[in-house]
Amino acid sequence: MVMKRRRDFLKALGGLGLAALPCRSLSDHAGGGAPSAADFCGNGTNGQPLFIPGTTGLFGRISGNAPLRMRAAPASRGDGGPWQLAFAVEQEGRRYVNPTLVLPRGERVRIDFENALTEPTIVHWHGLAVDTRNDGAGMTLAAPGERYSYDFEVRNRSALYWYHPHPHGMTAGQAYRGLFGLIEVEDEDERRLRIALDLAPVKSEIPLILQDRRGGDYAPTEADRMHGLLGEDVLINGTACPYLDVATRIYRFRVLNASNARTYLLGLRTASGKEMPFTLIGTDGGLLVTPQRCNEAFLATAERVDILVDLSDAAVGETLVLETRAFDPMHMEMVSAMAATDHAAMGHASPPPVAPVTPPNADHAAMHHGSAFPEGAPRALLQLRVRERIAYAARIPALLASVDPIAVVGATERPLRLGFAKGRWRINDRVFAMGETPIEVRRDTIETWLIRNYFNSMPHAMHLHGFQFQVIERETSPEQLAPLKIDARGRLATDIGWKDTVLVWPGESVRIALDFRMPFPEAQTYMFHCHNLEHEDGGMMLGVRVA
Ligand code: C2O
Ligand code: CU
Ligand code: CU
Repeated sequence: MVMKRRRDFLKALGGLGLAALPCRSLSDHAGGGAPSAADFCGNGTNGQPLFIPGTTGLFGRISGNAPLRMRAAPASRGDGGPWQLAFAVEQEGRRYVNPTLVLPRGERVRIDFENALTEPTIVHWHGLAVDTRNDGAGMTLAAPGERYSYDFEVRNRSALYWYHPHPHGMTAGQAYRGLFGLIEVEDEDERRLRIALDLAPVKSEIPLILQDRRGGDYAPTEADRMHGLLGEDVLINGTACPYLDVATRIYRFRVLNASNARTYLLGLRTASGKEMPFTLIGTDGGLLVTPQRCNEAFLATAERVDILVDLSDAAVGETLVLETRAFDPMHMEMVSAMAATDHAAMGHASPPPVAPVTPPNADHAAMHHGSAFPEGAPRALLQLRVRERIAYAARIPALLASVDPIAVVGATERPLRLGFAKGRWRINDRVFAMGETPIEVRRDTIETWLIRNYFNSMPHAMHLHGFQFQVIERETSPEQLAPLKIDARGRLATDIGWKDTVLVWPGESVRIALDFRMPFPEAQTYMFHCHNLEHEDGGMMLGVRVA
């Protein structure tokens, strides 16, 4: 067993050609646009303690092996967080709001869901490999007052997944109003990591749920529907201006971007203003084979990163910040909306190889939406206040898990083009229509998908239900990705491992590998869509039939 595992590791290492390459070198960053300490909650404020989920209440950890009753309902006073809606669960006398479902791999999940909202809804388990009936993709809805029962097996590897509503056209509003929660799948790899690093959930292993907000209710403008809604404040676990008291040891942060549309460029900075690296150990679908040392990483909506921050050498009294750094948001759709329309309408097979000449971030940001916090603007998100010196000697394991690369030799390639025409964001020139499945896949086959985004476009975070995939290549990427590339195929550290959501920048092509083996005897229907929730609601989604 031990022998076999070791062999698998080596095979996986060889197959993916992974060395412990840096995400980017640590000296070449000018630090331009660094958020200053004063930027934390705009001068003066001291911040509030980060909300950390416990064993009850908001995001409380609940073991999902017993049947659960879950109600989507208006939030009640005292639920915690700024939200209007909540998933409420009561179990053995304990009340949970948006509980964190802790699920051992192989376990059966039974959830009796009740819709106590005034509009239809349904729950989607983002990242989990379940059948259509349990996927909650919106083809079947629970009307107000109705119930829907889920019953499925947890087939996925250990990782951080999440759940949120998926009623077509109403997803963005319901998620913004507070309907989302975490799913932690556990397996052997996970247990081994926790033991090696002496990690304990909610003590040294902390979930960070990022959501930017603008006002209490969801009220998108026309521009928001086009670009995606950007908030003015970034809350973490519902806390504005959060800080966390820490000790001198390794912390694990499991980060979910639950924002409707915003992409972050996450990094750490010391009190003296120096960038500090972190270790990336996992992405959407779980642990990587080997840890990757990173200076910063993009995190698009719905993506997750699992990171380790080593504070063993930090000084008591020091404050570090987790920040989002300056980047070009590349909202190029307005630069020449007409050109994009024409181009998409003509159905060109490939985007013209335009050299990405990106306008300076500041200018572009300034003209953009008139938002107080444009996408790509830097900001301090979370303070880590070193309070206590403790003895801690654990080392990050060199091998974390095994990942078998999908064998793509001879696989069929499916082209998917992202573009804008006649006022709508489209995939292969189409918008979503209930009941249509423009993507027809033969079950038990392997495909590669070439996802190409037009140059006159904006970044789109593309997500597939039902299957985790592997990113095999990025081509014609914008210049700002260059320092983050870790291999000759143009991939980023955050592209490695199993993924269910991948950000495709304007002018870029991303090739992914998909293994359509599935355990369900009948044909299944899934969704492929942009996870910018305004784009998804606007129809940037296609049905996928696997038969
Ligand atoms: Cu987060 Cu269609 O999914
Ligand atoms: Cu825009
Ligand atoms: Cu999009």
